[in-house]
Amino acid sequence: MHSFTYQVPTEVVFGADTHLQAAQYVRKYGGSRVLVIYGGGSAVRSGLLDRVCEGLRDDGLTVETLGGVQPNPRVALVREGVQKAQAMQADFILAVGGGSVIDTAKAVAHGAANPGLDVWNDIWLQPANLKKSMAVGAVLTIPAAGSETSDSAVLTDGDSGMKRGLNTQLNRPVFAILDPKLPATLPAFQLGCGVTDIMMHTLDRYFNPDMDNQLTDELAEALLRVVIDNGLKVLKDPENQQAMSEILWAGSLSHNGLTGLGGRKDFAPHQLGHALGGMFDKAHGATLAAIWGSWARYTCKGDANVGRFARYARNVWHLDGEAMGDMELALGGIAATESYFQALGMPTCLEELVGRTLDGETLAELAYQCSYSGTRTIGTFMVLNQDDMLAIYTAANGRRKLSFEQ
Ligand code: NZQ
Ligand code: ZN
Repeated sequence: MHSFTYQVPTEVVFGADTHLQAAQYVRKYGGSRVLVIYGGGSAVRSGLLDRVCEGLRDDGLTVETLGGVQPNPRVALVREGVQKAQAMQADFILAVGGGSVIDTAKAVAHGAANPGLDVWNDIWLQPANLKKSMAVGAVLTIPAAGSETSDSAVLTDGDSGMKRGLNTQLNRPVFAILDPKLPATLPAFQLGCGVTDIMMHTLDRYFNPDMDNQLTDELAEALLRVVIDNGLKVLKDPENQQAMSEILWAGSLSHNGLTGLGGRKDFAPHQLGHALGGMFDKAHGATLAAIWGSWARYTCKGDANVGRFARYARNVWHLDGEAMGDMELALGGIAATESYFQALGMPTCLEELVGRTLDGETLAELAYQCSYSGTRTIGTFMVLNQDDMLAIYTAANGRRKLSFEQ
């Protein structure tokens, strides 16, 4: 087990109707002038935004709003938010939405607390400049990105199509309200994306070169089993609050660091997915489902990696190891995962993600983007260079036949 520090200071407030307590928690963390950030309209249509803002105003807080955050959130709206936060002298940023809204709130907080620094050029691309931020709280509406407790935030620069993450403790919200009633209005596709992303946050930690972390590995396997079990239940019935509660809590735990402690997290599929998200503006979870199987088959080489995939097949998918060799088991686990993604309504190749197969030039451009113009490798489970990335994108290009048999 490698050395680690684990500090997740976010206060999690979990339960039905907890969104009605937002004002109380904003006050608790020192907020009096609040910029509320929301997305493209779902929180308006459901009445959630009004209920939250009314609660804040009834408590005597000053409130302004900024809407219009889109999935794969853009830097341009963040800059607008920074101006608005500064103009109203905000001391608290409250996100009402999903990962895109929460990441926008985090970025606005960084920008507003650092006048003179441009959020993209001076903070996102030069993270060492970020020394302080402002308090952010979250009312979560979709179990997916885990941004509500994570140390991460992801933005897209609309001009260049570059999608980049920023990791810092300053990204951890001070509180996160997890109300299992709120995701009931999600379209099935978004639920499928969310369940996929939750699985991927643990898979991208579980597949790493350190294979002697018993507690971490078993926590990871348990989380995956619970998400797999309840993912199809919420898809079938988003009003199923028991299943939604499991998914909602798993979403936060899957990306706050717990399921990878002591290991060197990999996150190559996420990096491959970000290049797809930046180029084609597709939902994050769908980009991960489209690439994961091809990444897995590419990295399933050598005794250690094959053994890891075989363990995954046994402990997560309950495939029977007695009659099967490690490689057979490993490939069975990969196929089971892809079939499950399909059952969630997710694409498992680029053709399904984008609507066509990609030409060689586009595949090469994806590898170029993912390798930051050939300047970096990704992953730890297997370190991947630009050529490896191209090989994985190429393998993911066309359709494969799969069926879900759970
Ligand atoms: O914009 P509105 O109208 O609210 O609609 C959203 C959006 O279209 C809709 N939605 C959310 N809650 C809803 C709802 N519709 C009906 N009822 C509800 N209760 O869902 C759509 C997707 O929302 P979004 O916030 O984009 O989803 P998600 O939470 O998956 O966030 C994705 C973003 O987070 C980043 C991704 O890259 C992507 O940009 N990530 C952030 C991470 C982090 N900060 O730790 C880690 C992740 O790996 C990820 O990269
Ligand atoms: Zn993710």
